[in-house]
Amino acid sequence: MQTLHRIAEVRARVAAWKAAGERVALVPTMGNLHSGHIRLVTTAREHADRVVASVFVNPTQFGPTEDFDSYPRTLEADQEKLAAAGCDLLFAPSADEMYPEPNLTWVEVDQLGDHLCGAARPGHFRGVTTVVSKLFNIVTPDVACFGEKDYQQLAVIRRMVQDLCYGIEIIGVTTEREDDGLALSSRNGYLSAEQRQQAPALYATLRAAQAALERGDRDYPALIERARAQLEAAGFVVDYFQIVDAEKLYPVTPDTLRLHLAAAARLGETRLIDNLPVAIV
Ligand code: PAJ
Repeated sequence: MQTLHRIAEVRARVAAWKAAGERVALVPTMGNLHSGHIRLVTTAREHADRVVASVFVNPTQFGPTEDFDSYPRTLEADQEKLAAAGCDLLFAPSADEMYPEPNLTWVEVDQLGDHLCGAARPGHFRGVTTVVSKLFNIVTPDVACFGEKDYQQLAVIRRMVQDLCYGIEIIGVTTEREDDGLALSSRNGYLSAEQRQQAPALYATLRAAQAALERGDRDYPALIERARAQLEAAGFVVDYFQIVDAEKLYPVTPDTLRLHLAAAARLGETRLIDNLPVAIV
């Protein structure tokens, strides 16, 4: 596996693959890779001849009080994991390479980015869609993989690709979890030993709500109240616990056809998110 830091070098490498008729996949990440990220790479492998991963801690998606400076940067270990997973090329640009000047151009998906995490993190999804758009323009992949763990991000990117005619196949990849259900996340590393014990309650609460909905419980406010209480009892400060439309992400109404559960909650300074689909016949 080769690591490249410059946009022009990546373009040249991908152009050679495409000239040879090869299909190219992209897996965008911010590094500090765990087996959730690696699952994206192995999925990408199944869909393309060449896999490009990017590692870039994107400043424009962090709020002023968020963890941009302290976000873990572990490039050497990331390189080893990517190479072992069969990645062909790692693109690891500097901030200057990606943003030589402050951007005057932004990609923003209306509405979808406003609820859930968007409400607590203004500008976050604009930063995500803008950097993913840059990565798409640099790598020009045929297919790109994103985790279902960041459900809203996946929905926003799918819509961006549709609205801007990107012609890139977006593949959502199942969330990789610890044995106790906690979704793998780079931010789990911030948890103290005690918080790590409390953390699986997020998934357990989502599972309980999922089971209730799948049993036919339709008292949404009571269900949400119960879930919030469960999370608070486990030591979380709840940012949101919502039952939403699976595609549009607005809060469920009696007419909603496909439901999805999404939650964000904090243990101390660490904000965890998770989500689950609801299978209703
Ligand atoms: P990052 O948090 O590094 O995540 C990179 C990709 O890995 C995302 O698509 C995310 O959904 C996926 N992922 C994270 N944890 C996962 C898990 N437990 N199981 C499966 N997939 C998981 O998301 C970002 O970076 C950034 O916003 C990015 C898209 C790279 C733009 O900067």
